[in-house]
Amino acid sequence: MPKESGSSNHYFTAYPKSKPDYGIIRTYLRGRPFKFMTASGVFSRKRVDLGTRLLIESMLLPEKGSVLDVGCGYGAVGIAAAAFNPSLRVVMIDVNERAVWLAKQNIKINSIDNAEVRRSHLYESVNDLTFNCILSNPPVSAGMKTVKAIITEAKKYMTNKAYFQMVVRSKIGRKRLQILLQENFATAEVFARKSGYRVFIAEKQ
Ligand SMILES: C[S@@+](CC[C@H](N)C(=O)[O-])C[C@H]1O[C@@H](n2cnc3c(N)ncnc32)[C@H](O)[C@@H]1O
Repeated sequence: MPKESGSSNHYFTAYPKSKPDYGIIRTYLRGRPFKFMTASGVFSRKRVDLGTRLLIESMLLPEKGSVLDVGCGYGAVGIAAAAFNPSLRVVMIDVNERAVWLAKQNIKINSIDNAEVRRSHLYESVNDLTFNCILSNPPVSAGMKTVKAIITEAKKYMTNKAYFQMVVRSKIGRKRLQILLQENFATAEVFARKSGYRVFIAEKQ
């Protein structure tokens, strides 16, 4: 894991130092009820973020194979993917140890048996695996360097014809990210937009 600089209370910190203040989110995603345990020190602890929701509502899931949720936070995206297609194997990764712990609890709370969580800086803990689909609501606040690495390194962990799907807030570096996606994938386009967020889909050929 790389050394961190700055505050240790950002949602993207590896080891949040604040005392965890726990909460529960109850919500419906694609018409199905979910319950998520959250805590201070993780992303969007009070409600499922609008970008996260848009990614979940619009994501294309393979019929079989494996899915990776990069920067899973407390686990909404990966857990929803696992719930909507129980024949998939879902791996969820995050650098934040509190997020990893919460995602593990949320797998149990939602009775999911086809998902697992690994603590990881970028793709380092899945470097022996390839996936049919990679999903991400990336840590834009952590800086463009991290977001860029999530995009440019994704291909190494994807099978041919796999889809990379990423949600971003329209006003944050959208043009730059679209260009980056186009440079790195055979096809890259916006396939959902709502409430100031866009979901990009890019295919590896
Ligand atoms: C915008 S949040 C999204 C969380 C969750 N997917 C959601 O939508 O609620 C981005 C996540 O990326 C994680 N993250 C930041 N830097 C990372 C890195 N270098 N490697 C892996 N995950 C990272 C953060 O800890 C955070 O949980």
